[in-house]
Amino acid sequence: MKLQLPEIPYLPRDPVSYRPPIALVGCGGITSYHLRAYRSAGYHVAALCDLREEFALKRQAEFYPEAAVYADYRQMLERPDIEVVDVATHPAIRPAIIEDCLRAGKHVLSQKPFVLDLEVGRKLVRLADEVGRKLAVNQNGRWAPYFSYMRQAITQGVIGRPTAAHLAVHWNHGWVKGTEFERIRHLILFDFAIHWFDILCCFMGDQNPKRVFASMARTATQQIVPPLLAQVLIEYDSAQASLVFDADTRHGPLETTYVTGELGTLSSTGVDSNRQRVSLSVGRQKRRPLLTGQWFPDGFHGTMGELLLAIEENRQPSHSAADNLRSLELCFAAVASAERGEPMLPGSVSQLPIITETHDSSAA
Ligand SMILES: NC(=O)c1ccc[n+]([C@@H]2O[C@H](COP(=O)([O-])OP(=O)(O)OC[C@H]3O[C@@H](n4cnc5c(N)ncnc54)[C@H](O)[C@@H]3O)[C@@H](O)[C@H]2O)c1
Repeated sequence: MKLQLPEIPYLPRDPVSYRPPIALVGCGGITSYHLRAYRSAGYHVAALCDLREEFALKRQAEFYPEAAVYADYRQMLERPDIEVVDVATHPAIRPAIIEDCLRAGKHVLSQKPFVLDLEVGRKLVRLADEVGRKLAVNQNGRWAPYFSYMRQAITQGVIGRPTAAHLAVHWNHGWVKGTEFERIRHLILFDFAIHWFDILCCFMGDQNPKRVFASMARTATQQIVPPLLAQVLIEYDSAQASLVFDADTRHGPLETTYVTGELGTLSSTGVDSNRQRVSLSVGRQKRRPLLTGQWFPDGFHGTMGELLLAIEENRQPSHSAADNLRSLELCFAAVASAERGEPMLPGSVSQLPIITETHDSSAA
């Protein structure tokens, strides 16, 4: 007998008719995915801003030849036609930019990780409410096809209440050598893993994590400064979860996701986040949906699409900054646990402990 399951709407959604002029602040490496996704979705990017004007000009030539270019984003904010600003700088300087955008009456999509300090994040959430604008976080993993399918299936109750979730990524993150990212001490547990903390929070829904224990280590072979190994155990009242990050994997990369619940199990496997195959088991029956799209760039379509749709429908976006603060609470507690070697309570750590790594001789 064929498994009777509801349709799982995992693809990014577009607003019905709302296509406002969008500005991008920060035109660095990741923004080629932002702009690729927006162009193919038919979104209207009208301004590109970067302190280093040549980066904005490059993106203009590549994606939006009609867009205006600004070295100072504050000049862009004077334009009343711009309604939405996508802020894609690094997190240390982002809060001030987000605040300027909100005060100028713009809706904001912030790159991840949203903030380095939860109180700063809460202030921005309150400011957005005060000025009546939406503030969302670019947790594009939520719209990676495999994560999106699993997240929506769980929301629809297909596997019942999750009792266990185990997510593991084995890949090589050595590409950051010599970039700004190499200076981030918790490159793996914070900058990278925030997508996994965030999707875990989506999977677990209203189940609150009670305690988190994490560790990190350097491999003998790694060539960059931040530790490339990290693992996390998370306890819930009646569930458990684990996250594993092996970021110095030289051979046989693999990513697996496993979520089991009272009614069924979802799993996904593949060599990386773009090539995943999802399975759904309910009782003795199994479904292996053929999903279309990839995290890069479709996840970026998902995050901007959901923000525009939320503005059009006058509701909070599902990836609101307020929602994302739960993921950061768990992430910060895990980072503190890895620093201290003891379990931590999610929510008890409001600032990311130790932000930058000094480049020392042990790195090479
Ligand atoms: N999956 C994802 O969503 C994903 C992937 C990679 C990176 N990121 C995040 O995106 C952010 C940026 O990453 P990146 O790889 O593009 O970094 P990057 O260093 O390549 O780019 C940052 C850009 O911001 C510009 N900038 C700095 N200050 C500015 C200012 N005041 N006004 C305008 N521009 C300014 C810089 O000149 C630079 O071009 C980081 O927070 C990173 O964690 C997200």
